[in-house]
Amino acid sequence: MHRNRWFIGAALVALLAMLAALGLGQEEDAAVATPPQPRVAPPYPEDIPSTGRVREFELVAAPTALPLLDGRSLEVWAYNGQVPGPTLRATHGDTVRVRFTNKLPQPTTIHWHGIRLPNGMDGVPGVTQPPIPPGGTFVYEFKVKDAGTYWFHPHLRGSEQVERGLFGVLIVEDAKPGPFSRELVWVLDDWRLDAGGQIDGRFNTRHDLAHDGRWGQVSTVNGAVQPEVPLQPGERVRLRMVNVANGRVFAPSFEGLDASVIAIDGLATDRPLPASRLELAPGNRVDLDFTVPQALSNPRLEVMDHFTRRPFPLATLVVSGEVVRPPEVAAVAPPPSPDLSPARALQPAETFRLNARRGGPFGIEWTINDEAFHHEGEHASAHHKVYRLPAHQWATLRFVNESSRMHPMHVHGQFFRVVARNGASVDEGHWRDTVLIRPRETVDVAMFPQDVGAWMLHCHIQEHAEAGMMTLVDVHTEGSH
Ligand code: C2O
Ligand code: CU
Repeated sequence: MHRNRWFIGAALVALLAMLAALGLGQEEDAAVATPPQPRVAPPYPEDIPSTGRVREFELVAAPTALPLLDGRSLEVWAYNGQVPGPTLRATHGDTVRVRFTNKLPQPTTIHWHGIRLPNGMDGVPGVTQPPIPPGGTFVYEFKVKDAGTYWFHPHLRGSEQVERGLFGVLIVEDAKPGPFSRELVWVLDDWRLDAGGQIDGRFNTRHDLAHDGRWGQVSTVNGAVQPEVPLQPGERVRLRMVNVANGRVFAPSFEGLDASVIAIDGLATDRPLPASRLELAPGNRVDLDFTVPQALSNPRLEVMDHFTRRPFPLATLVVSGEVVRPPEVAAVAPPPSPDLSPARALQPAETFRLNARRGGPFGIEWTINDEAFHHEGEHASAHHKVYRLPAHQWATLRFVNESSRMHPMHVHGQFFRVVARNGASVDEGHWRDTVLIRPRETVDVAMFPQDVGAWMLHCHIQEHAEAGMMTLVDVHTEGSH
């Protein structure tokens, strides 16, 4: 009898597993359920061989005062006493080891934006690690698998900690040097100052929450207002730009230069793309390739921002000196563009409706499918829905912006491709980890998750995230939980 019951139970489990495998018996509408796909080649390698080299870094976050903006002393929170923090460099295949010490008056963590790494190194408090208390330390260690431009920042009280100056660039170099005679790294940011010229200490205001987050009145490149950047004629420049602002979108224009986009959000684009209409939402990176003309009628080239109705200068390139001959090496060829047709044929595995409502700790909550996520002390919201995605298969995700604000949506630990906007098929020609979704817009993205674990999906407008616009995507292999 006992044996029989066990047998019936086992048969039932097997039957249910079969039904589940067929995509039946699930709660969703059968048309939406995605049947398992045959194992397909990943669009980018799951792993790469290790170089065996370990790059060690020390990072300390602490309050300090620095001559920033116009050169007057500004009270900031900084990594290693500098804003932007130090630029960390490693080569594709290296292991990065960062010994971090928190000397802030608040708990913090470090998130490695855009880096594919083991889930436990992702720096999400209450999800991948406990918050690092004041005085505490943590060692982050991961192999860098993708050459490109990345950055790091706290993932706790980001609307305050990032705004106060905690961010830095992580550059993963190709093993082969490129055809450039100069590399520039530009960290784009803006600052909201009070009457005394210091960082306005009112964070998560109702105004910022009801709009596109906190936009400052002063924009900077590497902490300086409209810096002059000296260049020589003939130079071939790789310019790596990162937008670390809480809410501001930058749209830099490089008129007078024949610039092309060679990488976005880290990874190389499928081919060089035109650099007209550049847009960097919070979190985005864009790498440009340009050669400084040898004959210029005006040696001063202003880089203007055109995102708002009032364009303003971001920086001035000042060309002088001897003609430089860039190295005569071929650029590293980008990997072949992925075949997105299997992804395009899929129904969305999940739809994320983005909206706001009254309530929550700040009076306004930003929601994903009517849920607001809060990092509650040590624990992420206990009753929050977790979205599950199988690893090693294409999945499409749909973002439906039901609100009248912008949302740069970011997914940790994966790259994705935009495949449709408002139902019309799109081929951007590059990967991303953050996509700006405009008011009332619907955007479909295709991703091929490979690293298992609970990965954050959230709006990168820091105030929207702080007010709940975050959730988790659990990437699992077949049969795991
Ligand atoms: Cu740069 Cu979770 O973000
Ligand atoms: Cu948002």
